[in-house]
Amino acid sequence: MNNDILKVLYSQEEIQAVVNRLGREIAQTYAGKTPVVVGVLKGAIFFMTDIARAVDSYMQIDFIDVSSYHGATESSGTVELLQDINTDIEGRDVLIVEDIVDTGRTLKFLLDTFANRGAQSIKVCTLLDKPAGRAVDAESDFVGFKVPNEFVVGYGLDYDEKYRNLPYIGVLKPEIYTNN
Ligand code: XMP
Ligand code: MG
Repeated sequence: MNNDILKVLYSQEEIQAVVNRLGREIAQTYAGKTPVVVGVLKGAIFFMTDIARAVDSYMQIDFIDVSSYHGATESSGTVELLQDINTDIEGRDVLIVEDIVDTGRTLKFLLDTFANRGAQSIKVCTLLDKPAGRAVDAESDFVGFKVPNEFVVGYGLDYDEKYRNLPYIGVLKPEIYTNN
């Protein structure tokens, strides 16, 4: 699996340092509150478990599964709700935890969905932000890294459901796409 990687963008150590920084920022923001922290499956699984443990504050955690990619490297443009949270978020402070914001369509869908349910506040923490990919207006409050306009894998991010378990974030060799 490591052989398929062209270059490492962010090492395990760099990711850990960013998680610690974000954890401190989030703890300050929610001091005295108990936010509902919602991880977006499956890409955010590792980031979610790391970030939750880096925040010294009360919280509830939940997960939501949405899909817009269907195994390709281009967004299909539509967002599907595959599995909902089971926490009632009316009047609650919600923190969405994402792996990456690219076109912004997934995030926009989540922001609209949670706003419609009467959340008191909604903030977003994303490990990666790809501003060059943005098609709709949806911004994050806490950002780990700003990434170049390349398709990235690892630490939860997949290509065709593989590479999520790489402990770092990298770019695949071009032949991996063409051979599939
Ligand atoms: P949008 O375009 O809706 O994308 O902002 C959000 C979701 O798309 C996936 N995504 C990627 N997945 N490498 C990946 O493995 C990428 O470079 C990439 N760009 C977008 C991701 O699942 C994210 O939640
Ligand atoms: Mg995703």
